[in-house]
Amino acid sequence: MCGIVGYIGKQETLPILIEGIKRLEYRGYDSAGIAVINDKGELIIHKRSGKIVEMEKTLPDEKNFNSCLGIAHTRWATHGEPSTTNAHPHLDCENKIAIVHNGIIENYKVLKKNLQNEGHKFNTDTDTEVLAHLIEEVYDKINDFHKAVNEALKLVEGTYGLVVISKDEPQKIIAARKGSPLIIGVGEEENYIASDVAALVVHTKNVIYLKDNETAEITKDSFKIRTLANESVAPIVKKINWDISMIEKGDFDYFMQKEIYEQPDSIENAFRGRLNDELNTARLGGVHLNPEQLENIKQIVIVACGTSWHAGLVGEYMIESMARIPVKVQYASEFRYRDPIIDHKTLVISISQSGETADTLAAIREAREKGAKVMGITNVIGSTIARETDFGSYIHAGAEIGVASTKAFTSQLTVLFLLGWMLGRMRLLTPEIGAKYGDELKKIPEKVTEIISYNDYIKEIVEASPIPENALYLGRGINYPVALEGALKLKEISYIHAEGYPAAEMKHGPIALIDENMPVIFIAPDDYVYDKILSNIEEVRARKGKVIAITNKSCDGIKDMADHVIFIPKTISLLSPLLTVIPLQLLSLHYALAKGCDVDQPRNLAKSVTVE
Ligand code: G6P
Repeated sequence: MCGIVGYIGKQETLPILIEGIKRLEYRGYDSAGIAVINDKGELIIHKRSGKIVEMEKTLPDEKNFNSCLGIAHTRWATHGEPSTTNAHPHLDCENKIAIVHNGIIENYKVLKKNLQNEGHKFNTDTDTEVLAHLIEEVYDKINDFHKAVNEALKLVEGTYGLVVISKDEPQKIIAARKGSPLIIGVGEEENYIASDVAALVVHTKNVIYLKDNETAEITKDSFKIRTLANESVAPIVKKINWDISMIEKGDFDYFMQKEIYEQPDSIENAFRGRLNDELNTARLGGVHLNPEQLENIKQIVIVACGTSWHAGLVGEYMIESMARIPVKVQYASEFRYRDPIIDHKTLVISISQSGETADTLAAIREAREKGAKVMGITNVIGSTIARETDFGSYIHAGAEIGVASTKAFTSQLTVLFLLGWMLGRMRLLTPEIGAKYGDELKKIPEKVTEIISYNDYIKEIVEASPIPENALYLGRGINYPVALEGALKLKEISYIHAEGYPAAEMKHGPIALIDENMPVIFIAPDDYVYDKILSNIEEVRARKGKVIAITNKSCDGIKDMADHVIFIPKTISLLSPLLTVIPLQLLSLHYALAKGCDVDQPRNLAKSVTVE
């Protein structure tokens, strides 16, 4: 989604802004722009639709900027088509105030009409332009920039992370946050502001997370934070634990590829320090519930979106199987509007890589209002979901830059496994079974390394047939959500239409699609439903479908039935999704590369969806 970067300090601003927004490209965007105030006090705006490089190509000579203050933006269109005109920054009537904004102004039509009646002239179709004029209107009356932003925002309904500069006060940047993240990066004689730590990490590890309804006045050596009600807030500087290697590709060509290859480590990081070998259970330090409260949980509701929702579906199998607590998994976007039946005996678990997904956040608020305790499973430390949940566990996957989630998914599964195991041991799981779970989990990273080493073979499978237009993914039991995830990965980055189904459901519809052009990917580990899956494979073969099977080495009979078999190491059924998903990630990567797609920034998608 949209990205924001701002800088004020002693260095030339332009390269910092451009580098900063490039670090945010992964979030998805359709246009980009910058605004700087130069040493002559002029406000220079430059924006373009398309990629940042396009904007860069048309920039006037960089030296002419001579500026130590500026803001920049990558836009992901909500109101108004993606175009140069609608790209941010937006300006007031006098071209004195420039603003960049993430989020949505819900009452922009009413505000726009009122401002037009006051004589303001608008140039774009965006909701953001309204903010520039609204601030102008108030600023003209009270002549205090920070206060003017505060007063203007009191009239606004909606969500925003925004940054504003004014020609009249060229030593400060004003930032405001409600529902869309903003982080101040603290430097020496210079300060930064960004919507994502990825833009800050090269400059500083000291950050201040702005909270909702807070605004900040940032100069090169100070920051004043106030609430919208004008109360001053003491800034709390925190250290971020990301380093620059996490946000660079290193030896890899694509972030997605790097992140797939990182999984042996990222999975281990998710369980490191969380195994209690003495009691044969997991220890999730962030789960602040006493044993009595934990035992009183009567149902669990998991809310999430996208890949995180698929992780939730796997978690349902894990937790029900180990802890025997009923689990429901709901799309966060549906949960929030369905008046869900939950109470204080319900544990709601929200799963989100970014910790910023608007629908997941709204579901959390709904659940807490209804009296449920909410646990967050997130990756980004200090994210809104991490802060708004009652307690939680980080997955410690490190920065995930590829839009299509890979390592975050397997880390989410790891934490869900730990949770199910811990709840199970508090109820009926014997120490012997608990010990087996621990042993099997510890072996997963090595097995993932082995599967990744099949990369070239998986590439050959892709290259062996023409690129299909459709694909079907089938799995059963705990591997049914893996089929959904495999299909999602393929559509996200290769634009090949793909669907995931429980294998037995194939007969109730999708079988009609099968012909010699349709690859059917079976996830068929050696488990309690393996024999059933073999019958489904026969049904596909009888209709000339191309079969790609993922199975264990113990099942080599499948070789005669499938066009291609990817043999993976065996584990217990509950952990098998951590292994079966890896070949699917690699398959989608190679299909996308074979089609020449941009795997890290697929069209129309955003890494973190901060609007409803
Ligand atoms: C977007 C991303 C997906 C992600 C989903 C949920 O759609 O493109 O990769 O799974 O949001 O994001 P979250 O950060 O809440 O896990």
